[in-house]
Amino acid sequence: MKTRSRGKLPSPEAIRRCLAEEDPAALAPLFAEADALRMRHVGDAVWLRGLVELSNHCRRRCAYCGIAVGASRVPRYRLDRDGFLDCARRAHGLGYGTLVVQAGEDPGLDVEGLAEWIRSVKTNWGLAITLSLGERDLDELALWRAAGADRYFLRMETADAALYDHLHPDGSSWADRLALLVEARRMGYEIGSGIMVGLPGQDLDDLHHAVELFAELQLDMIGVGPYIPHPDSSLQRRIEDFPPASEPARATELQTLTVLALARMARPTANLPSTTALARVAPGTGRSGALGAGANVIMPNLTPAPYRRAYDIYPGKGSTEATDIETHRQLLASLAALGRFPGQGRGDSLSFLRNQATLEAQKEAQA
Ligand code: 5AD
Repeated sequence: MKTRSRGKLPSPEAIRRCLAEEDPAALAPLFAEADALRMRHVGDAVWLRGLVELSNHCRRRCAYCGIAVGASRVPRYRLDRDGFLDCARRAHGLGYGTLVVQAGEDPGLDVEGLAEWIRSVKTNWGLAITLSLGERDLDELALWRAAGADRYFLRMETADAALYDHLHPDGSSWADRLALLVEARRMGYEIGSGIMVGLPGQDLDDLHHAVELFAELQLDMIGVGPYIPHPDSSLQRRIEDFPPASEPARATELQTLTVLALARMARPTANLPSTTALARVAPGTGRSGALGAGANVIMPNLTPAPYRRAYDIYPGKGSTEATDIETHRQLLASLAALGRFPGQGRGDSLSFLRNQATLEAQKEAQA
């Protein structure tokens, strides 16, 4: 019989009460518990991952996204080898142990080229590499894995398959996405997923189901951010196609933190970023709130300034003009103020490392 993993999740009724709660004071115990779990299982280190947005070309029509086909007024770009490797060099220079490589689902991506760039990053700086390049062919994933990529991140976006299909009118189903993650894990990737909170048409059941799935899929990384309306997206143009649910999810700081805290309970050893989308909706408090409700990762953006604004997934995303060094200094100061510090090294998922160790031991025992 398949055992359903629930991590250290509260009962379904308690989860439901938390998701329906709108009083921050009533949620404080949940956040404190997630914070304590985070401290016990992954410690006080905050992993800094350098983010490079490789290309904003995309073949998909995701209704919410500002860089979907036909949605964007921004110029399209694709970094070249030098641009990419320069991001990796700067990540290493700032002491980051991981490079997170993100892009739209770019049909023009040089698949072999990227494999070679990955090998260069490994040889020159030894960084861990997380890929977040959408739904790609399995042979591409295998090629990049063989080149040294360590992790694959692909959000399920919502746990409701029907809402997913409604939001993604161009083909691949929700089940296809989950199947891809499972395949990536089979190839030896650490895997990550997540959702947006407060999508039009999303309800509290959806959030509840998502949290249970985080546990069942045994995710190594979980990203949770609020939905931010993009005026050029098809979702905003046909918002009447997404009538509010009877118990609608809310794209608020509080609801996002609630889902994040529950995600920590679902996967006590996972790596959970404090997302840029949350910092964008709650500029003063989002980041520290997330670090106090289960998060242990921050991904400073290293994309060269001219391209950053063109990676226009949601409004205001690439608006900062601060340099890497300025951002880094501010980050160190804000972490210190919270009694936290940057992690040293790659910051691999502990459950992934444990599974690897078990597999190695089994192999040795069989030899
Ligand atoms: N608001 C918030 N997050 C968004 N994403 C895409 N569009 C938006 C939006 N309008 C998130 C999705 C996607 C990731 C790259 O960015 O979850 O997987």
